[in-house]
Amino acid sequence: MGVYFATLDPDDRILSLSLSHDGHLSHGHSVNFSGQLYEVEQYEVDPETGYINYEDFATLAQEFDLDLIVSGSSEYPREFDFERFIAVAEEVDAYHLANIPHVTGLIAAGEHANPVPHADFVTGSTHKTIRSGHGGIIMCDE
Ligand SMILES: Cc1ncc(COP(=O)(O)O)c(C=O)c1O
Repeated sequence: MGVYFATLDPDDRILSLSLSHDGHLSHGHSVNFSGQLYEVEQYEVDPETGYINYEDFATLAQEFDLDLIVSGSSEYPREFDFERFIAVAEEVDAYHLANIPHVTGLIAAGEHANPVPHADFVTGSTHKTIRSGHGGIIMCDE
C-alpha cells in the first residue's frame, strides 16, 4: 500500500471564487495568507443571473496552468455544480478542494449535491449547519 501525499508549494496556482462574488478570504484574497503564498486567479458569478459562470470558469482553468481548484463560498445562495468542477479539474489535471462549511447540513440531509465521493479534498466546519461544537473537518481519500 502506497502513501499518497498531495501538497501545494509556494507560488503554485489556485483558481477560486472571488470574495466580492461570494467567495471567502481564505480562498486566495490578497489580505489572506492564501493570496500571498499562492498565485491566485478568481472566477466570478454572472452579474445577470447570480450563478457561477461555469464557461468563464472553465476558460480560466484552461488558461491558467492550475494546481488547485477551490469550489465553495461564504455567501453563494445557489447549489454548487460539483460535477462541473470535477470535470474541469480532471481536464486540467488540478486538485479539487470543495470547501463546504455553509452547506454541510444540506449535504448531510441530501438536499444539496455531495462532493465527498468525487473531490480530492473536502473541508467544512462543525459549528455551522451541522450544529456541533467549534471545529473543522478535512476529508480526503487514501
Ligand atoms: C467558505 C468558508 N470557508 C471557511 C470559513 C471559516 O470558517 P470558520 O468561521 O469556521 O473559521 C468560512 C467562514 O464563514 C467560510 O465561509
